Amino acid sequence: MKLLFIGDTVGRNGCDYLFYNLRKIKEKHGADITVINGENAHEHNGIDEKTAETIFNAGADIITTGNHCFRQKGFNNLFEHTANLLRPANFPDGNPGRGVCTINVNGFKIAVINMLGTVFMSPLDNPFTTAERIIKTLDTKNIFIDFHAEATAEKKTFAFTQDGLVTAVIGTHTHVQTADEQILPNGTAYITDAGMCGTENSVLGMDIKTSVQKIRYHTPVSYAEAQGTSFCNGVIIDFNPETGKAKSIKRIVEH
Ligand SMILES: [Fe+2]
Ligand SMILES: [Fe+2]
Repeated sequence: MKLLFIGDTVGRNGCDYLFYNLRKIKEKHGADITVINGENAHEHNGIDEKTAETIFNAGADIITTGNHCFRQKGFNNLFEHTANLLRPANFPDGNPGRGVCTINVNGFKIAVINMLGTVFMSPLDNPFTTAERIIKTLDTKNIFIDFHAEATAEKKTFAFTQDGLVTAVIGTHTHVQTADEQILPNGTAYITDAGMCGTENSVLGMDIKTSVQKIRYHTPVSYAEAQGTSFCNGVIIDFNPETGKAKSIKRIVEH
């Protein structure tokens, strides 16, 4: 069985790209399940009802998010009432929505967990112990974790603690695809970052000029979405749904 994962989808261009190309990409790679990180789907960051609907209509089964999950108005209602839209599981109790969901695919249960790193990020609940607690409650071995984090060492350390317990740990958040995909010794697929989906000639999907103003000159401008043609980064994970072990992980870059 194959799971297609696409990294942080950025703005209008990222959503449009998925709307016009996702079905083709799923077919090309023979994806049975599609998971997409949508934490930057709204043109001003975060995700709202319209952008979530666009990504689901494009062909995503599950949308994960990250540190920007609650940026748009109406997030309470959206996360509370959209079963397959996840926010990081280690947000403190009392927040809307959920950080894990399970779907049935070809007679097999597939669980997806969304988790946020805490190194150089907000001090949420401990992602390691939160994951241990959640995994004990799941009645499937087919478990995919979107580990949305800044620090490469935290991502890789987290992956080794999950090796053999889950099918894959897929890093997101940096918007830059890493070339370190591997199957860990006990059968868990891993990549430090899946990359992004949005404008290619950009700074992580954002306009180059405003990024220069902000980073080169420290001018207090707001980021704007870059314009131009889009690309899409992700991974295809082939796994055995009887054992939950990954067979292969392959990076994809589509134009
Ligand atoms: Fe992001
Ligand atoms: Fe992020």
